[in-house]
This record gives sequence, C-alpha cells and structure tokens, in this order.
Amino acid sequence: MDRFQNTRQPDWDWWGKLWPTPGDTLRQLGLASGDSVVEIGSGNGYFTLPAARIVAPGLVYALDLDAALLDELETLAAQQESSNVTPLHGDARTLTDHLPEPVDVAMIANTFHGTDDPAALLEEVTAVLAEDGRFVVINWHDHPREQTTVADEPRGPPTELRLSPTETRASVEKATNMTLARQTEIPPYHYGLVFEQ
Ligand SMILES: C[S@@+](CC[C@H](N)C(=O)[O-])C[C@H]1O[C@@H](n2cnc3c(N)ncnc32)[C@H](O)[C@@H]1O
Repeated sequence: MDRFQNTRQPDWDWWGKLWPTPGDTLRQLGLASGDSVVEIGSGNGYFTLPAARIVAPGLVYALDLDAALLDELETLAAQQESSNVTPLHGDARTLTDHLPEPVDVAMIANTFHGTDDPAALLEEVTAVLAEDGRFVVINWHDHPREQTTVADEPRGPPTELRLSPTETRASVEKATNMTLARQTEIPPYHYGLVFEQ
C-alpha cells in the first residue's frame, strides 16, 4: 500500500496553531447531528474527532493506511468518550472494500492533492455515498509554499502539487455526477468545497 504523495500527518503543534477550531470548519461545511461520515485519510483524527462530536449519534468511519495513526485516533476517541468512531485500516483506492455501509458524507482533508488517480478515487467515493450523499474536500490553496507559513516555517504540500478550488471542482465534476453546492474560504490558507449528487 502506497501513501498518496506528500500526505504525511501534520504535527498537531503547528496544525493547532494554524487551525484552532476544526469543528467550526466542519459545521460551516454542513456536517450536522445524525450524519454518517467517512473521513478518507483521517490520520490521527484532527478532523475525525470534532466530526464525531458534531454528528453523534451518527457514525464516523476513519480510513487511513497508517495503522499507528489509527491507534492514536482510537486512544484519543476513548479519552474523549466518543464511541461513534470506527477506525478502518486500508487504502483509499479500495474504499468500498472497507466501508460496511453507505454514508451521508465522505470527506477528505489535506490529502486530495496527492492522489495518483483522482478519477479512480472519486469512483470509490461515489460508490460509498448514500442517496443524497455529499462529498467534502478541504485543502490548501495553490499559493506558493514559501508563502504559507506557520510560526515562520513554510508548511503544506509542495507548490507544484497544490490544486486551486477551480481545479479540484473540475476534477470532481468531470469524474462524477456530483456538482458543487458550496465553496468556503478557510483563512488563512485553505478552502472547502461541498459537492452534492
Ligand atoms: C496530510 S494527512 C491529513 C490528515 C487529516 N485529514 C488532517 O487533515 O489533519 C494525510 C493522511 O492520509 C493518509 N493517506 C495517504 N495515502 C493514503 C491512502 N492511499 N489511503 C488511505 N490513507 C492515506 C496518510 O497516512 C495521512 O494520515
């Protein structure tokens, strides 16, 4: 199993400085109580854990190919008494093999830029969405990496891998029957897109 390009879990020290309120971002992107969710490339849960609090009693599946990160996520979920999180160890390229049921929301945060074959991944996403399901993409803007600094250090994927909202939108709308329903700025360096079927 190969990791998508430049998709290492950020260190929570600087990630938290850049992104102090991930739950607010998820609410802004439409997550609500009762939704069932899969986070593709969840890492150790920077977005999964707030998602679980928002959608409870809805379930959140956290898919990642790094078992150690999923172990951390499980520990944190237990500490936070979030019993609605299910870690799934596997490759997003075979998402449908890992998910036991369709979900209302598939989300992918800070990972879509690295996918080797976006159309194939999007086919998997479409296949796991329930009727009227939504697809949420959060990602870095396509600014030069040296300009996206946190505590004076350049952060985020290499400039050449970054996708603008327009490029991400085109990629999703070309490969699926989904269309853009919402676009949000997440200052200082990110955007969020919500697609609906
Ligand atoms: C940049 S991190 C983002 C983590 C989290 N979504 C966040 O924004 O804080 C990308 C995550 O995707 C995972 N990943 C990379 N390639 C993957 C693949 N092919 N299948 C499943 N997970 C993958 C990595 O292990 C890593 O945890």
